[in-house]
Amino acid sequence: MKRDLLRVADLNRTDIEWLFKVAARLKKERIEGVSHRHLEGKTLGMVFHKSSTRTRISFEVGMVQLGGHPIFLEGKRLQMSRGETVADTARIFSRYLDALVIRTYSQAEVDELASVATIPVINALTDMFHPCQILADLFTIAEKRGSLDGVRVAYVGDGNNVANSWLLGASIMGMSLCVATPKGYEPDSEVTASAMKIAEKSGAKIATMTDPVEAVRGADVIYTDTWISMGQEDDQADERLVAFEDYRVDEKLLSKAKSDVMVMHCLPAHRGEEISAEALDGPNSIVWDEAENRLHIQKAILLMLMRGDAKTLYP
Ligand code: CP
Ligand code: NVA
Repeated sequence: MKRDLLRVADLNRTDIEWLFKVAARLKKERIEGVSHRHLEGKTLGMVFHKSSTRTRISFEVGMVQLGGHPIFLEGKRLQMSRGETVADTARIFSRYLDALVIRTYSQAEVDELASVATIPVINALTDMFHPCQILADLFTIAEKRGSLDGVRVAYVGDGNNVANSWLLGASIMGMSLCVATPKGYEPDSEVTASAMKIAEKSGAKIATMTDPVEAVRGADVIYTDTWISMGQEDDQADERLVAFEDYRVDEKLLSKAKSDVMVMHCLPAHRGEEISAEALDGPNSIVWDEAENRLHIQKAILLMLMRGDAKTLYP
């Protein structure tokens, strides 16, 4: 049976720990010059209806390093953009490709595509979720700290696709997560409820609030993302810049956290908006390691979904 990654909750804690182990192995193998062409002869389609720097490049490079062949498919050049249905497109993809990565607006569209496709589908960001990002973030924290046990994360800013994915990731991994957003910009209510439910079993502590200072107190990680996500530029930018003014991750907010707090951002960053240049470029920032880890974790994801024997390959 094929497996998809459409939201973080498609994985359990054991799967995520396996991804960490394999990403660490693949990262080390690259440094040591050990070849790992485990996807030789396989082809990955990559549909992008939105801009991307990190996600596109890391999937494309990752697929090449694994010996496979990535095909970048610009959304507006596909017949989908001229009305070919999602289901028909999914059937066609399944006849040519071994797996598909898609970045688009609607989560429902990705869910529909995956339900019709007979190949694994990976969500490379929708308005609702960004699972690959959060898996790389969790891997980065585990790499820096040795484990995720007892780690407290404060997410400050917009309750967007990244915040929604953080809720699922932290609850599955049994972490402590405080999400601070202005009123009216909270994460999705159904996702929050589902994270709370997962937390009851995993022992995670999940809280949503409006006060960024309360969120960062005692935190090991302060995380933020843009205040204006892709698709919101034209009609929401002005009101958002006003609404989020007190949610900037800057020296003042950092001073309320532990002195060794790690600053994370999925990037692209907007210095002077959601994060100050001092915080992004300062000694607490781990954003470049975080961005690099997109490559290693996504290679592990590709192996998990594209090699039926992945767990034998990397036990
Ligand atoms: N963080 C992230 O997904 O970056 P891109 O939009 O550049 O892919
Ligand atoms: N929330 C941002 C994430 C970019 C990687 C967006 O959707 O534009």
